[in-house]
Amino acid sequence: MANTILVGAQWGDEGKGKIIDVLTEQADLVVRYAGGNNAGHTVIVKGQKFVLHLVPSGILRKGKLCVIGNGVVVDPVGLVTEIEGLRKFGVKVAANLAVSETAHVVMPYHRELDAQREVLKGKQKIGTTQRGIGPAYGDKAARVGLRMIDLIHPERFAEKLQARMQENNEVLKALGAKPLAYQQVLATYRAAGDFLAPHVKNTVVLLHEAQQAGKSLLFEGAQGTFLDLDHGTYPYVTSSNTTAGGACTGSGVPPHRMDRVVGVMKAYTTRVGEGPLPTENAEISDLLHGMGREFGATTGRPRRCGWFDSVAVRHATMVNGIDDLAVTNLDGLDTVETIKVAIGYRSGGKPYDYVPADVDELAACVPVYADFEGWLTPTSKARKWNDLPAKARDYLKALAELSGARLSIASVGPGREQTIML
Ligand code: GDP
Ligand code: IMO
Ligand code: MG
Repeated sequence: MANTILVGAQWGDEGKGKIIDVLTEQADLVVRYAGGNNAGHTVIVKGQKFVLHLVPSGILRKGKLCVIGNGVVVDPVGLVTEIEGLRKFGVKVAANLAVSETAHVVMPYHRELDAQREVLKGKQKIGTTQRGIGPAYGDKAARVGLRMIDLIHPERFAEKLQARMQENNEVLKALGAKPLAYQQVLATYRAAGDFLAPHVKNTVVLLHEAQQAGKSLLFEGAQGTFLDLDHGTYPYVTSSNTTAGGACTGSGVPPHRMDRVVGVMKAYTTRVGEGPLPTENAEISDLLHGMGREFGATTGRPRRCGWFDSVAVRHATMVNGIDDLAVTNLDGLDTVETIKVAIGYRSGGKPYDYVPADVDELAACVPVYADFEGWLTPTSKARKWNDLPAKARDYLKALAELSGARLSIASVGPGREQTIML
């Protein structure tokens, strides 16, 4: 398999984990390049459910090397818990996991600041996962972050931590929050550092050597296009470049080595957290929540649901250079009589065929819908294109045409086998 970047084409939770797991079969390495443990990627293998937050979803297949790239922010305590959880289920996590030495570390004061800033924002809050992601990337950009290479060098870490905690405790006090205890943070993080030290590597060189040896790389995007710091619905975004360009900066693999971009999207739309969602709709929200679906894999929050938004996905195709589409959760629409798809927006009498950059302008947009007749037949047992009802095939063909990329994968259930390759 050529080097492939997989991105979310909507607002996250598109089913990236499931599709990564399917595509990993043909890849040698799986590389996370952005985000942190704000991500929750669900993979179901032989009925066993795994939710991966930092560890690449490729870990569930034997013989694959998984890399947490430099663009990721790592909560070391969270990562240790995740590794231990995987080992409990018999998943091997040893030399098959490498963590970039230049990945930044998420600290307890990042989490605390994340929470405090949300409180301060009141109604304007972002609805973050409260994992400290924004403050950690903020420190990275401000050049005051601690990195994995620091974490595994005890003396250096102790010294840098002291300076960072002094400053951050002052900020926390000013916000009315309790300062954190240095010795306690030091002890917890040192223990996590010792646990993780064997995994910490120069992953830029590792990835370069793997390519020279002819190995193929699969880049596992986190979040989604409209949560991208530059291309999303700012400020209702995450703090990293979740789009395809992030795969290069977040791993050190150059652009001309990338062969293919796969965009993952649901057959409808979901979003968790605040910010505009043009096709949000109570009918489809109630239907999906009633089926026990669409609750967040990281925070358990109910996801906001809406119809498929082809304006947004077309925009995602443009920003990411999506070649292939993987449409998931087709089965979620099995009982819907009339399925709507946004084919444009209107605001102030003006038509839009793109996603406006300004959130207020986007929030004022009303979708223009096309109606599709539902297939009203269960699809979860389909394994081949022709197993799908004709109306479901027509729906998928229309999504691909409207999105401007080739339909390559259709998913009809959370399991590995519930996948139709085209
Ligand atoms: P990710 O963050 O993009 O990896 O997606 P999440 O794991 O957060 O959310 C996707 C949810 O949809 C998970 O519960 C998956 O198990 C589930 N899922 C993925 N594809 C399908 C599908 O085709 N049908 C059904 N029913 N569930 C799916
Ligand atoms: P995966 O990889 C869905 C959302 C949060 C919030 C905003 C900012 O599973 O698709 P943050 O904690 O990153 O500062 O929160 O981004 N968000 C996600 N929504 N899926 C995710 O990851 C998300 N990661 C962050 O809900 O709106
Ligand atoms: Mg998720």
